Amino acid sequence: MRSPTFSLVSTALLLVGGAVASCHGKPAACQTLDASIVAHSGTPVGKEVKNGDVTLYITEPDKKNGRAKARSGAAVLYLTDVFGIALPENKLLADSFARAGYLTIAPDLFNGSPAPGDINVPGFNTTAFLAAHGPEVTDPIIASTIAYLRQKHGITHIAATGYCFGGRYSFRVLAPGGGVEVGFAAHPSLLEGGEITGIAGPVAIAAASNDALFGPAPRADAEAKLTAGSQKWQVNLYAGTQHGFGVRVDLSDPQQKYAKEEAFLQAVRWFDRFLVAE
Ligand SMILES: *[C@@H]1O[C@H](CO)[C@@H](O)[C@H](O)[C@H]1NC(C)=O
Repeated sequence: MRSPTFSLVSTALLLVGGAVASCHGKPAACQTLDASIVAHSGTPVGKEVKNGDVTLYITEPDKKNGRAKARSGAAVLYLTDVFGIALPENKLLADSFARAGYLTIAPDLFNGSPAPGDINVPGFNTTAFLAAHGPEVTDPIIASTIAYLRQKHGITHIAATGYCFGGRYSFRVLAPGGGVEVGFAAHPSLLEGGEITGIAGPVAIAAASNDALFGPAPRADAEAKLTAGSQKWQVNLYAGTQHGFGVRVDLSDPQQKYAKEEAFLQAVRWFDRFLVAE
């Protein structure tokens, strides 16, 4: 049992500290997350539904989840890598955002035909695949998913989390009128300068130390553009990682597993910071 003295002291501390004081009396909403919330394997718990022609993977927080109560009007839009919602790790990571209290939706960006789990298999043409899934095809899928969140789920605040291919779209939906308030991108690919300077909300990036698609030069360029801009931003660089680590890692490598979990917690804490009034 805590002594009365300790309670008085801790209450005083809570009242003095700005951000901490706002959590006073709402411990469930402010519950600290730890890495055990990240599912690396197992069976996804969400379901697939159709919104017009687009398949959506939806995963909802447990109603008894204290963090979910404080996030009932908020959702996470999960924008996948080229492996899409067919990749179990994408569904499992979306489930992890739901366990963090956010209704989470991942649209099938590839209409049932994502890249094969190993893009180096003979016969798969990456150039042709990416050409067939440019912004003119992908933006409308994402826009319809945002409309679905608002209309079908009464969502008023949306965060976007994107990985590799999807990372670029975390920036695109942060443009004025894009419908998203805060973004996170892990190891984005094909990200263009105008998409970085065009954001109208805060963005955080998780970058891999070994990444041919978002290496030191594009990363420095992104940081320079974000620094010159007026939005809040954060770039975390994870040692011992490679492109894709936010979703799929070699689980036998403790450093990679750690980095994936930290990148997930980085996203959740960024969303909490800008999306949830606590
Ligand atoms: C891959 O697709 C591109 C664009 O459609 C095409 O120019 C190229 O020849 C293809 N490569 C192979 C090996 O088929």
